[in-house]
Amino acid sequence: MILRADAITKRFGGICALDKVSFEIEEGSIVGLIGPNGAGKTTLFNCINGTLPIDDGRIYFCGEEITNKRSYELARLGMCRSYQIVKPFRSMTVLQNAMVGAFCRVKSRKSAQEIATEALETVGLYEKRDEKASNLNIGESKKLEIAKAFSTKPKLLLLDEVMAGILPSEVKVMSKIVRDINESGVTIILIEHIMEAIMSLSERIIVLNFGEKIAEGAASEVVRNSEVIKAYLGVEEE
Ligand SMILES: Nc1ncnc2c1ncn2[C@@H]1O[C@H](COP(=O)(O)OP(=O)(O)OP(=O)(O)O)[C@@H](O)[C@H]1O
Ligand SMILES: [Mg+2]
Repeated sequence: MILRADAITKRFGGICALDKVSFEIEEGSIVGLIGPNGAGKTTLFNCINGTLPIDDGRIYFCGEEITNKRSYELARLGMCRSYQIVKPFRSMTVLQNAMVGAFCRVKSRKSAQEIATEALETVGLYEKRDEKASNLNIGESKKLEIAKAFSTKPKLLLLDEVMAGILPSEVKVMSKIVRDINESGVTIILIEHIMEAIMSLSERIIVLNFGEKIAEGAASEVVRNSEVIKAYLGVEEE
């Protein structure tokens, strides 16, 4: 087990964005995290990854308690995330963006460049390495978001809607990138609304609704779960 969340609770004023959410992630797996808009998926990433402090609960990574550790500490320990709203360093080149992550592992420019180059090859952006990040289209920006995180050499990668807004033809390409990264030994938690992609990639799926975990299991089980159908369609099952 690489990650364990034990009753994570996060409130924003009166809203309970996460209500005692617990789960375990097996090392080497791809786990899907789904739920309707506003369910708390990104908030869960923010809490696991140290972007936001939690109000209650505990989080363990590789056997060590990491509750409320900061993102940069977690990057060194081997956890990194991508942002749903892409956050490139806009005036820097694609290669320089990917190098930033690599500097959490190595000191020299040359080594950072090697790691960044490998990350860009993995996501298919090597040809664009000298472009300014601000010139990339949305699909390319999503790939750069993955490369920035991947170049920190993570053990666990949290991907927040890397397929949202991309062309349907690119979904297969992005799925392959996710699978390649996983096969290189990286555990992945994937937030995604594109069901076709999440169903085929995920060994297990966790479903959130209004801050609560309402289901967890194999993709085929989760889609038949009446709580999940109700959360998505807003109707009772016949
Ligand atoms: N920084 C914040 N301050 C106040 N409320 C927040 C904050 N971040 C999230 N929320 C609220 O917490 C709830 C969960 O939001 P979150 O962004 O985690 O949902 P999500 O499942 O990622 O949704 P989506 O699929 O639309 O990305 C929502 O009600 C949202 O308005
Ligand atoms: Mg979100």
